[in-house]
Amino acid sequence: MGDFVTSGFHHITMVARDAQQTVDFYRDRLGVPIVKRTVNFDDPDAYHLYFGHESGAPGTILTFFEWPHASRGQFGIGGIHHLALSVETVEAQLMWKRWLNDAGTPTTGPYDRGWFSSLYFRDPDGQILEIATAGPGYSLDEPPDALGEREIEPAVERTHGHRDEAAIAALTHPEPVDAMTDAMTLTGIHHISGITTDLERANEFYSAALGLRLVKRTVNQDDGSMRHHFWAHYDGQNVAARSSLTLFEWLDDGKHARGGYGQTHHIAFRASSEDEQLAWRDHLISLGLDVTTVQDRKYFKSIYFRAPDGLLLEIATDSPGFTLDEDPADLGTDLQLPAWLEDRRDEIAARLTPLR
Ligand SMILES: [Fe+2]
Ligand SMILES: [Fe+2]
Repeated sequence: MGDFVTSGFHHITMVARDAQQTVDFYRDRLGVPIVKRTVNFDDPDAYHLYFGHESGAPGTILTFFEWPHASRGQFGIGGIHHLALSVETVEAQLMWKRWLNDAGTPTTGPYDRGWFSSLYFRDPDGQILEIATAGPGYSLDEPPDALGEREIEPAVERTHGHRDEAAIAALTHPEPVDAMTDAMTLTGIHHISGITTDLERANEFYSAALGLRLVKRTVNQDDGSMRHHFWAHYDGQNVAARSSLTLFEWLDDGKHARGGYGQTHHIAFRASSEDEQLAWRDHLISLGLDVTTVQDRKYFKSIYFRAPDGLLLEIATDSPGFTLDEDPADLGTDLQLPAWLEDRRDEIAARLTPLR
């Protein structure tokens, strides 16, 4: 491991067909506030919407490009299978199940994964989402100072074919949930799970490029023939929240991911400062990676590169953040543009569908 260690996720960017549909789902059904309405700086005719908690704190940020003419994406090698958001307790997770089901969003689970409990559903574009509990955590089945050191065989009663699917499906909050409660707040990215053909190569890459460390080596509890490894910001004692990347291993002849709506476009990790980002860029280049120049995204600075299996990655700075051009109480209310697009504001605004 080198000196370059990300503290975790900055944001995840997905592709949506319809901006209003995305707002209705993420803001109104999942309760994640909009923190910025802007456009794709590389394609100003398209919305770029940012959602997040705590005024858009890194690790809580979900962003969407609206591409109405995109075809449907498909998960596969080099892509993201699902995005998991955190909830504090199993009780709150059951409230989510009741709330989503009563609103017409079907769910699967909750499954007891041991380290956390998982409830699955899809957004209106088909992106697979999960609500995962914060605990009990990765030290459930190995010592906290020795995570990822040995292969962990999942408890048989948690695996596909051995669990009581009918009981799991029937389990829900006993009363209707009339309104989202504070306890239900989705506090950020719990983990992001992708697909690769080579976990050993992935381990070399993620440790060298981002300083992430292997914290769990196991198999997919839904398909015991598939290896499943977890990485995170891990100091040898604690695993940071909002930092877990997991990868399923598919055979090399499996299908590659196809970009499009309902799929992740890229995932971004944190750099603490612009100076650190510049040094990090040199470090990535020294590893033989193709890295873009620093891009000014107004709310942060970005560099982009790809994982060996093709996944697009970004390193984004924590600053200046989303309160740069709006007060915390007004985040996401008006269309915001970078200075270099301000003289085209009327033309750009006229092409965008107004959002409620
Ligand atoms: Fe997951
Ligand atoms: Fe990004």
